Amino acid sequence: MKITAVKGFSDIFPGEVETWQWVEQKAREIFATYCFAEIRIPILEKTELFSRSLGETTDIVEKEMYTFADQDAKGSLLTLRPEGTAGVVRAYVESEMYKIEPVRKLYYMGPMFRRERPQKGRLRQFHQIGVEALGRSDPLVDVEVLLLLDDFFQAVGLESTSLQLNSLGCVDCRPVFRELLLAFLKEREEVLCGNCRRRVERNPLRALDCKEQRCNEATKNAPSILDSLCEACRRHFAIVRQSLAKAGVDYTLNPRMVRGLDYYCRTTFEWTSGQLGAQNAVAAGGRYDGLVQELGGPPIPGVGFAMGVERLTLLLRTKETEKEAGPTLYVVWVGARARDWAFPLVHRLRRRGLKIEMEGEPRSLKSQMRRADKLRAASVLIVGDDELDREKLVVRNMANKQQQEIHLKDLEIELMSRKAT
Ligand code: HAM
Repeated sequence: MKITAVKGFSDIFPGEVETWQWVEQKAREIFATYCFAEIRIPILEKTELFSRSLGETTDIVEKEMYTFADQDAKGSLLTLRPEGTAGVVRAYVESEMYKIEPVRKLYYMGPMFRRERPQKGRLRQFHQIGVEALGRSDPLVDVEVLLLLDDFFQAVGLESTSLQLNSLGCVDCRPVFRELLLAFLKEREEVLCGNCRRRVERNPLRALDCKEQRCNEATKNAPSILDSLCEACRRHFAIVRQSLAKAGVDYTLNPRMVRGLDYYCRTTFEWTSGQLGAQNAVAAGGRYDGLVQELGGPPIPGVGFAMGVERLTLLLRTKETEKEAGPTLYVVWVGARARDWAFPLVHRLRRRGLKIEMEGEPRSLKSQMRRADKLRAASVLIVGDDELDREKLVVRNMANKQQQEIHLKDLEIELMSRKAT
């Protein structure tokens, strides 16, 4: 009986992994120009980290986390990370990084886990590339992370995405809006979906971006959070908007976008694509000024985003992406003497950085040539008793089919000159 992968967990095979590597490399290059440094955080954290930071009433904490008992500590629970922000902030607080320098610009890449219903662009193990800028409350850093993302999308050639922008206010003005919205929803409570009705008191904002048609209808004329912003939040948001416009980044205001995580305040955003179907957010994020303190640190602000690598590569796959090149050289050998001569040569050349392939089992010349073709080898080196006796080997260029005889003493220099740069 075959053992299959867990539902919603998928393999990334050669052929598609090259796109992933390319995307990761582009991200590293661009993030470095914005002075973000990589942080690697654990995949497993204490459950409390997520319930406290994401919020008890969020879909993730209520029903999507992979949680199990910690055998080492009675009564404690562990969770496979559903996102990266909480872990990064935990690491920042725990290591007291802020004592040396509070401003930290960090990025991470890796798998996240949410027990959602799998569909196109939605997995249970998925991958995020995310950035978190900690220690700065000025609106320009919000813009900086958005520009970084925009630069990244341009670098990978992602087109026709659109940026949706909102401000969720702060601890001063959000409660005022919350009351306003609650009063509005209470009047329409009976038409809301079960989920929204259940959490209307604890989290009324969620009704605004509920996917149910009935909630959509019911909240059509709901008050807008943008009308409730306090002076400081209004100013902050105005600078974000002006700076984005000046940088030539188009956006749409979406006052109904509340995001599915409770730590957000002020600027929030989602970058969506029309080509993704229902799961249309490629990247999303925002500001979270209370989170460091919520997790036991000093009052230090933060802003960041994460993008879904599966969704990104789905969009890129429709375009022509770079394929992994075949071997620079494929060694075809005939007879045991040729094999024993070629094997150490291949090792030497590999150590010098040449990409080479060679078989271990004797095969006909024809079948080895077919294999070289299949692997998309650039050249083939043919080794047999005859060639070794004459001290002259044949190298065949697979693209133009031209053959060249090379003397043994020149062979390594000549082959190394073919190394891809
Ligand atoms: P999020 O909106 O939950 O935010 O996820 C960010 C992105 O991860 C989504 O836009 C999507 O591309 C991808 N994603 C989420 N769930 C799945 C899934 N089940 N399958 C495939 N892709 C998925 C966060 O996680 C925040 N931590 C972002 C952030 C960083 N905010 C501030 N800093």
